[in-house]
Amino acid sequence: MAETIPIGADHAGFEMKERLVKELRALGFEPLDVGTHSPDSVDYPDYAHQVAERVSEGTDARGILLCGTGLGMSYAANRHAGVRAAVAWTPEIAHLAREHNDSNVLVLPSRFLSDEESVAILKEWLSTPFAGGRHARRVAKIEEITSHG
Ligand code: RB5
Repeated sequence: MAETIPIGADHAGFEMKERLVKELRALGFEPLDVGTHSPDSVDYPDYAHQVAERVSEGTDARGILLCGTGLGMSYAANRHAGVRAAVAWTPEIAHLAREHNDSNVLVLPSRFLSDEESVAILKEWLSTPFAGGRHARRVAKIEEITSHG
């Protein structure tokens, strides 16, 4: 069965999201498009929370978000336990976000990327495994703060 990948964007990321939804389907994934569904102005946390909640609760293993800079989406998504939302603006950063940081949400800064760049970043992020080892220890330490209250 195809892996479901939730994807969301605000108005700044809307057009690029439409493109990436098609790309995900072409790659054999089942995109779950949580919106937005038009270029009208919306609030990015409304979409970040929907995608991040699914990843945090384990409904889906990974998700994708887009906004103008990638920053607002990442701030909101990273409030969810166990979510590691990485803003990536090159395939190399996407690669390292997976290999070293076990990123489970990819955030794309749509106003600073061409469609071609966004597809290259998406493909790199989807196909790169986590390296584990010393990186697993470091990623585990990210979560320690939550147990300190
Ligand atoms: C929307 O204008 C813009 O603020 C938003 O897409 C994002 O860049 C916020 O972080």
